Amino acid sequence: MELNGKRIVLGVTGGIAAYKAAELVRLLGKQGAEVQVAMTAAATHFVGATTFQALSGRPVYLDQWDARMPNAMAHIDLSRQADLVLIAPASADFMARIANGMADDLLSTMVLARDCPLLLAPAMNRQMWENPATQRNVARLRDDGIGLLGPASGEQACGEVGAGRMLEPEEIVEAVIAAFVPKSLRGQSVLMTAGPTFEAIDAVRGITNLSSGKMGYALARAAQQAGAQVTLISGPVGISAPYGVDRIQVRSALEMHAAVMARAAAADIFIGVAAVADYRVAEIAEHKLKKDVDGPPTIELVENPDILAAVAALADGPFCVGFAAESQHLEAYAQAKRKKKNIPLIVANLIQEGFGGDSNRLVLFDEQGMHPLAPASKAQLATQLIHHIVTLKGQGACIAST
Ligand code: C5P
Repeated sequence: MELNGKRIVLGVTGGIAAYKAAELVRLLGKQGAEVQVAMTAAATHFVGATTFQALSGRPVYLDQWDARMPNAMAHIDLSRQADLVLIAPASADFMARIANGMADDLLSTMVLARDCPLLLAPAMNRQMWENPATQRNVARLRDDGIGLLGPASGEQACGEVGAGRMLEPEEIVEAVIAAFVPKSLRGQSVLMTAGPTFEAIDAVRGITNLSSGKMGYALARAAQQAGAQVTLISGPVGISAPYGVDRIQVRSALEMHAAVMARAAAADIFIGVAAVADYRVAEIAEHKLKKDVDGPPTIELVENPDILAAVAALADGPFCVGFAAESQHLEAYAQAKRKKKNIPLIVANLIQEGFGGDSNRLVLFDEQGMHPLAPASKAQLATQLIHHIVTLKGQGACIAST
């Protein structure tokens, strides 16, 4: 419930993507938001107001002259009750009107009268999106501090392919959640690793581990929500990339090492969450090993590079954060690892408590000592961890010379 108690006015304008706004109301409600829907006249040609009323549990506002408003000021009433105004879908015409400060119907008047953030999820034919007039309006809206979500590219309702599709409701909800997060990492670039690595033995087999990637992905999401530009170098996992995060998929430790080192110097923060295999197979068999032909194999292993230590060793490198999954002696092992890798912060968790699940128990170790975090969901822990990183980095924390 990441939108608990948040009051969101959802404006629906005229476009076929209006049918997706119905799902959006449901998803926002599931996150605890109170959703008030207002529609333009054109929107009602695509979806009936009753659908939105049933899903939001509130009567839908349709025009300025709503007889239910004793003071005839529906626009003021709507804008006063909003913590955020979201227009999804936002048609080309609606964007043009608000880019020019027009106030000739309920939604545009409410947008002009609001005192809270405004997000638009454009949806239109690709030619309309690419049209210089629309692009002019987009630039103007951005200048005015209005958030634009998408549009996505792909197949459109009109049969054409290109930019102009409304983002999926799930992505819009992610952006709405992010809008309420303080931008403590604005302007910072965060490079991360997550998930396991897979060290091939032959064409179909390999050595890997049980890391689910959930903690790393939660952290990437929290950093993105805090305003960072996030690049996530991920081993093989079964989860999709968080909204707004640039994910690069790799398989082996060597691939992960190369992907990280190519980007590390330009990053402000590096967080190594991946469970990188310590060893790889010295010689990978090109074909599948056959039991009858090859017999039991003897697998020679060679050591993988320590990615985190390599980044920490860069002159003028990023602020480095490591993870330590331990099964015993948490404090002693974690602090020793922090010093050995020469990093200001290490995040320790007992393997028994965190692997694979949605919650975890983390203990942070830095130069000041130990900071246990209360057991919580990985999403909540990720937010707390970002907060700690921002604080430490702000203090110019580094590893004490030992
Ligand atoms: O040494 P150990 O594997 O326990 O350290 C864990 C930390 O180091 C994690 O942050 C992990 O992502 C990172 N690591 C790495 N490259 C390796 C091994 C670990 O970046 N080869």
